[in-house]
Amino acid sequence: MTQPFEHFKPVDLDHASRLLNHGPTVLVTSAHAGRRNIMAAAWSMPVEFTPPRIAIVIDKNTLSRELIAASGVFGICLPGAAAADLAYAVGTSSGREGDKFSRFSLVSVPGRQTGVPLVADGCVAWLECRLIPERHTEHAYDTCFAEVVAAAADDRVFSSGHWSFREDNADLHTLHHLGAGNFARASAMIKAKPLP
Ligand SMILES: Cc1cc2nc3c(=O)[nH]c(=O)nc-3n(C[C@H](O)[C@H](O)[C@H](O)COP(=O)(O)O)c2cc1C
Repeated sequence: MTQPFEHFKPVDLDHASRLLNHGPTVLVTSAHAGRRNIMAAAWSMPVEFTPPRIAIVIDKNTLSRELIAASGVFGICLPGAAAADLAYAVGTSSGREGDKFSRFSLVSVPGRQTGVPLVADGCVAWLECRLIPERHTEHAYDTCFAEVVAAAADDRVFSSGHWSFREDNADLHTLHHLGAGNFARASAMIKAKPLP
């Protein structure tokens, strides 16, 4: 049996923004006082290189928001294309109805910096995040800010600070939500050339 995160290598925090730069759908993980949870989020982005900071929309009615507010930390796991069904499943059910890790038989390990559950199944990268409390944006726009304190990625698809989406690693390409359970996967890369 393969080990969880067998292919994962630490990502330099200076490169953490590259994990989210292209707008992948992510899985937000959280835990507090014996409860744990996971949800999908399509709306996240980097907002600062150093220290690496991100913004993410997490609806105030979700269980995830409740656990994140209580613990002050959360995880961001990037599902690969092979995990599209999982991303949709955890984004269309609430942890209030029961533990989604058990329901979907998810393997997780606690993050070393924050203890948040990090999901191995079908994921290609993760970031551990500490909430930067911003009551106004959280309340008015459901937008949470956080500092990334650790990151890692599967070196078959992200190494030396760069994604490498190729035909031979298509299952590891990140997912991009088009709405209503339809996803596109990151695919053919285009290298910009200087215009004459
Ligand atoms: C593909 C996908 C993307 C989503 N993106 C977001 C998002 O960016 N922000 C958000 O608050 N909810 C988003 N959702 C909805 C949450 O994942 C959903 O409300 C979830 O049931 C919350 O779970 P919880 O109550 O267990 O925390 C998304 C759902 C799907 C399927």
